[in-house]
Amino acid sequence: MTKSKHQAVGVDIGGTGVKAALVDVRTGELLSDRVKTPTPAGGEPDAIRDVVVELVGRLDARDDTPIGVTFPAIVRKGRTMSAANVSKAWIGLEAERLFEDALGRDIHFVNDADAAGFAEDHYGAAKDAKGLVIMTTLGTGIGGAFIYDGVLIPNAELGHLELDGAGAETRASNKVRETEGLSWEAWAERLQRYYSHLEFLFSPDLFVVGGGVSKSSDEFLPLLRLDTPIVPAMLRNNAGIIGAAALARGV
Ligand code: BGC
Repeated sequence: MTKSKHQAVGVDIGGTGVKAALVDVRTGELLSDRVKTPTPAGGEPDAIRDVVVELVGRLDARDDTPIGVTFPAIVRKGRTMSAANVSKAWIGLEAERLFEDALGRDIHFVNDADAAGFAEDHYGAAKDAKGLVIMTTLGTGIGGAFIYDGVLIPNAELGHLELDGAGAETRASNKVRETEGLSWEAWAERLQRYYSHLEFLFSPDLFVVGGGVSKSSDEFLPLLRLDTPIVPAMLRNNAGIIGAAALARGV
């Protein structure tokens, strides 16, 4: 088997940036530099499609390398069914086909937090975990993923759980922390309510906390009082790329 049999491209589309890399799916390591560009203002389908094509073109990957693409919305049968932090034009759109037509080949299309959770479960912070792992990504919104004994249960929209009368991500995302200028302590109070609620509802065995802010996890995770172990993501901002690539290769 040639080395390229273990390679796949991962593209991670977020509310703030779009990034891509070539991945070794045996180890979850990046084989290329990470190429990145800001998400086009307005988050319109055609603009994001063009950015994805441009980024994939910058990677030195063979034409038959599988491609996985993540998106920050509910993904059902290749369609995007919600749009919390991107243009509403995505709702109901055949997004997988949009990217396939533009790239000229099949892709694997998946929710961003699902891809990140899958990656952490296979290569990262939840590698040896048994039972229910709940991945949450604290970023522009809040993403959620359920992985039970290694099996991904897709589209757990945990950022939209109601918290104090509002969608949780409008109270406790990292973007809210930044825009409201919350101290770590003030933010941790909101996270405490959020994770306690998740714990009560789902009795998980492990929480993994991802998103760019997970690199500062020492500032807020020790402030939380939960019965469930809660750990920072290991793959940090690359988890979506790695998970998309692994799912595209059928790991
Ligand atoms: C979306 C999710 C997404 C999360 C993180 C939420 O607003 O509804 O689908 O996973 O943001 O990007």
